[in-house]
Amino acid sequence: MSLLFSPFSFSGLRLRNRIVMPPMATAIEGPGGSQNDDGTPGEATVAHYAARSRNGVGMIIVEHTYVTERGKAHRGQLGLDRDESVPAFRALAHAIKSGGALAAIQINHVGAAGNPEVIKGEPLGPSDVPVPRSDRKPRPMTREEIAETVFQFASCARRVKEAGFDAVEIHAAHGYLLTQFLSPLTNKRTDEYGGSLENRARFLLEIVGAVKKEVGTEFPVFVRLGSVDGIEGGIVPEDAAIIACMLEEAGVALIDVSGAFVGSRPKDASPGYFVPAASVIKKNVDIPVLVTGGITDPLFAENILRENKADLVGIGRAILRDPEWVLKAEKIMRSQE
Ligand SMILES: Cc1cc2nc3c(=O)[nH]c(=O)nc-3n(C[C@H](O)[C@H](O)[C@H](O)COP(=O)(O)O)c2cc1C
Repeated sequence: MSLLFSPFSFSGLRLRNRIVMPPMATAIEGPGGSQNDDGTPGEATVAHYAARSRNGVGMIIVEHTYVTERGKAHRGQLGLDRDESVPAFRALAHAIKSGGALAAIQINHVGAAGNPEVIKGEPLGPSDVPVPRSDRKPRPMTREEIAETVFQFASCARRVKEAGFDAVEIHAAHGYLLTQFLSPLTNKRTDEYGGSLENRARFLLEIVGAVKKEVGTEFPVFVRLGSVDGIEGGIVPEDAAIIACMLEEAGVALIDVSGAFVGSRPKDASPGYFVPAASVIKKNVDIPVLVTGGITDPLFAENILRENKADLVGIGRAILRDPEWVLKAEKIMRSQE
């Protein structure tokens, strides 16, 4: 009996199998995200997600969606920064759920990695330290700006719930604002948001707390957690495991393991490149762990679950390029039984 194709329940959710389509910005590769660049999903983007849902994926986490224009990562990105956008996102959630997949959506702020032309202002970060591979210094956020950003995440999460999504995911990976606060490479603050790991995690935990207050304790909140910086002195999986414990304590329903400053697709990495990090995190928490990264073979995915290294498996580019990946994988697994 395949574990990959057996249902999985947690936090009031039930997935028909253990395959998750992780967030992938369709403006970078795909039908274009927000075609009018107003943050709302275009028709082709809705159809793109509907096709993956119809073809059997257990849960879709819709691509990163900005909580405020100041936190927008690129043109064509989805954004849910205003109440007027809720109906357009309702159509997206409905299209996904009609195909049988659960619908979650990732919410994000670009922080110091922002392009001034896109965010229409100067990039904000924890300190005046450029993110790796950039030479642009951001302006350190004031306490007021931190509080305002916490509010923006919480308001965005409320809109996610109003739009009918099953869950919301906070993006704390891939070098965006929350990674910048978590990582000692970019967070040089001397106030309560910098220094110890506990202090560097404070902003993320305040966001989780405010989001949960806004959406209610029953609504599932996930965190995509950057577990590897890949740079001397940066975040390592053991740090991420400690942060994951804090998130579990704060009521987070799922840890979605990915990279921090190393990104989501490190060069020349071997299949399942974040499985070792996921396995370290999984040993430290009781909530489910999702792992993504270089997984394309269903038998490989099955083994990750069998070896108890994660509870759910993310299949990104393979599903992006072949909407029928799940159906084909199921045939392969059935032929093995
Ligand atoms: C075109 C593209 C866009 C992506 N956009 C996002 C995103 O919006 N948010 C996110 O957390 N990860 C994003 N990712 C990373 C994927 O979710 C995933 O972690 C990565 O592709 C590795 O998984 P894979 O080897 O199965 O593709 C993106 C990846 C690709 C290829």
